[in-house]
Amino acid sequence: MQAIKDNISRRVMDFLVKKGIPADSIAKENLFKRPEKDGFGDLALPCFPYARQLRQAPAQIAALMKDDLGDLPGVEQVVVVGGYLNFHLDKAEVFRALYKKLKVNPDRILEWTALKGQKVLVEFSSPNIAKPFSIGHLRSTVIGNFLQNLFRSMGATVTAVNHIGDWGTQFGKLIVAFEKWGDRDELAGNPVRHLFDLYVRFHREAETNSQLEADARAAFKRLEDGSKAENELWTTFREFSLKEFNRIYNRLNVRFDKVLGEAFYRDKLQPVIETLKGKELLSISENAVIVRLDDYDMPPCLIQKSDGASLYATRDIAAALYRHETFGFDEAFYVVGAEQALHFRQFFKVLELAGFDWAKRMYHIPFGLYRFQEGKMSTRKGKVIFLEEVLDEAVKRIRTVMEEKNPDIPNDERAKIAEILGTSAIIFNDLKNDRVKDIKFSWDEALSMEGDSGPYIAYSYVRCRGILEKSGELPPVDPGHVSIEHPDEAALIQKLSQATDTLLLCAKHRKSHFLAQYLLDLTRTFHGFYHNCRVIGEDSERSAFRLALVELTSATLKAGAGLMGMRLPERM
Ligand code: ARG
Repeated sequence: MQAIKDNISRRVMDFLVKKGIPADSIAKENLFKRPEKDGFGDLALPCFPYARQLRQAPAQIAALMKDDLGDLPGVEQVVVVGGYLNFHLDKAEVFRALYKKLKVNPDRILEWTALKGQKVLVEFSSPNIAKPFSIGHLRSTVIGNFLQNLFRSMGATVTAVNHIGDWGTQFGKLIVAFEKWGDRDELAGNPVRHLFDLYVRFHREAETNSQLEADARAAFKRLEDGSKAENELWTTFREFSLKEFNRIYNRLNVRFDKVLGEAFYRDKLQPVIETLKGKELLSISENAVIVRLDDYDMPPCLIQKSDGASLYATRDIAAALYRHETFGFDEAFYVVGAEQALHFRQFFKVLELAGFDWAKRMYHIPFGLYRFQEGKMSTRKGKVIFLEEVLDEAVKRIRTVMEEKNPDIPNDERAKIAEILGTSAIIFNDLKNDRVKDIKFSWDEALSMEGDSGPYIAYSYVRCRGILEKSGELPPVDPGHVSIEHPDEAALIQKLSQATDTLLLCAKHRKSHFLAQYLLDLTRTFHGFYHNCRVIGEDSERSAFRLALVELTSATLKAGAGLMGMRLPERM
């Protein structure tokens, strides 16, 4: 497939250069588009970009180019459509390329080397210790995990970092609250719940007792200064919380290369301040140390408070310096909610002003909110939806449906499948949306067995596995002798061949929904094929070929879902 495309590119380039267009003015990587409608071929070459230079109408250029290109290997037909030249690839040729990859390793069917040599750092999840892992953090976790998997599958070297919120004034609050109302036994028994209750109570009482906030600031200051009692409490809070997070990461099939909390940078802050001072970027305002950003239409970036305590932004600057030095990166992604956009613009700018050019290759990857019936959730008021409760609910609901639909599956196996389906449903329901938009959460939509949902992807996969299992030993396909007989065979091959382009699109925009929509499309195309093309019971050559298409579909679904962090069951 890639070889066919590369050859067409080369020939198109030759034509354009021959016509007098300078080679370096041609956007080589973006010559083609995917045709907007089915039936318009596999590749569309827009001729509009060359009309001015060639002083010819796009359609005229397309016609001349068609004549010039003549026969192309792997291409069945070339058609002028308006200002486009559309290429219909030889589906047997495309099938051969896909099949070859399948036979090397079905699990790696979506891997290739487009980004070989690239170093990417993805920071994601980054929940706050001693606050529950809310469903708000789910977005960062699943989007970031998708990005790390995606870039890895394209050959990049990836460092996945979890920037745990384990430092900052909230620890002052928690320490004060624990000393006033806390209970050691409760902390040991039900840590996250207890810490959460303390956190909520602190904020409730602070509304009428202004002393509490001052006490909290002082407690945090003692923590930063290394006081033993405060540090002991902090360690306990941290350990309990991390244990909870890890349980959730396991359920969501998420791994990190590095878990480095904000506290990790506490001894790396003074050098930051020295560096910024050396660059004459610091000023004093109301006793606090700041970097003015008026020239960039931003409020100042706070570096150090009047009492000497460090700040979120300072820790972020230290973290960026450390990461660049320790791991290195060509690009760094921060997967964090859109509400923190200003914070990222600010500290990226500070780094840039300090002369760190690589800061221009750091990107905030923002995302919208979850909207439940109750509206946005907030930890402060205690109205929060715990992620784990959502996962448990999804699993429970799926299990109930399974009990009705497939009562023969033994209970313990059903529990395992429901766990996979429930967590995957929640993951897919998130990743199928354009991340910058808010998500209106609906249980029916997330768990539907027929709609645009994770369970539907799983169901299609299970169906493929069932067909393959029923067929017994696969008769080998002779790739040299395949012929396309039915338009639905061709349609499925075309859809399968679009997987890599889809991943390129995801990587370019750092968005998952292109892949999610593609997988849904693939399942629909597959169901059309399966409905119209008998797989088992045709003559053995036809059956073998069609089974290979089923196998390709199954491998693509599994690998694609895998990139999103979804697991798929073998039956359900
Ligand atoms: N812990 C923060 C929060 O939950 C997110 C951290 C984002 N990452 C960063 N480098 N600032 O709001």
